[in-house]
Amino acid sequence: MTAPTDSPTDPTTAGALTDEAHRYYQENGFVRIPQVLSADEVERFRAASEELVAQHGPEIWGADESSVQVHFVAQAWLKHEALRDLALHPAITAIAKRLAGGPLRLYSTDVLLKPAQKELATLPTLVHDDETGLPLDGLERTLTAWIALVDVPVERGSLSYVPGSHLRDAAHRQTHMTSFAEHRAISDIWPDYDWQPRITVPLKAGDVAFHHCRTVHMAGPNLTDSPRMGHGIVYMDAESTYRPGTEDAHIAHMTPGEPLNNEKFPLI
Ligand code: SIN
Ligand code: NI
Repeated sequence: MTAPTDSPTDPTTAGALTDEAHRYYQENGFVRIPQVLSADEVERFRAASEELVAQHGPEIWGADESSVQVHFVAQAWLKHEALRDLALHPAITAIAKRLAGGPLRLYSTDVLLKPAQKELATLPTLVHDDETGLPLDGLERTLTAWIALVDVPVERGSLSYVPGSHLRDAAHRQTHMTSFAEHRAISDIWPDYDWQPRITVPLKAGDVAFHHCRTVHMAGPNLTDSPRMGHGIVYMDAESTYRPGTEDAHIAHMTPGEPLNNEKFPLI
């Protein structure tokens, strides 16, 4: 099995998305789409991400500053005009909808930075799937777009995916959690995990990798002297509803079961 690896010189659009890439996503639960963003766009979004980190100070994915997996800025699209354009980018949203096969809304966007090793020794990103941590119900086609805003070779903290893991049954998934204390290691809930192959997907700046919310994934540490600047965008099923869970402060005023059908979660 091989991931599509062609590198066209023209940016990839939904119309140019090959049937092979679509089939690859359905079978494996992730796919790399090369050169979705132009070099100018990459530079604009990268600079905006740096500004946001400097302005807001990143939050930490990890126990504390001595065990950082990722520095992040949540809800980035509501904090910077350029990152709003990224979240609603016509090529990214069109590819997301084509892969998902149905209507989607924007749920969240995060700056995802692993600082250069000389600044901070980052840890690998925890093995997880995104379904567990989303405070949402009705997740069938929900997916994440992971956008490389710099070159991300393996040593800079590429993501790895377990192909086909999005198809495992509910008995082998943690479909929800109401607090991080409930989080269980993947091998506990899916004993077969230890014997599954993983595919590591290096990305060039401007490439986008999409993964389904049930696809098991992780990332390596940044072992290089340049920051790994990425961006994660979750596009949810258009009919998703609020289900109290983790990181839900921004929607905790909602009633459980209420659809997220307002301007904070635009249809794409
Ligand atoms: C990472 O950027 O290291 C992890 C992102 C994700 O889990 O989607
Ligand atoms: Ni994730």
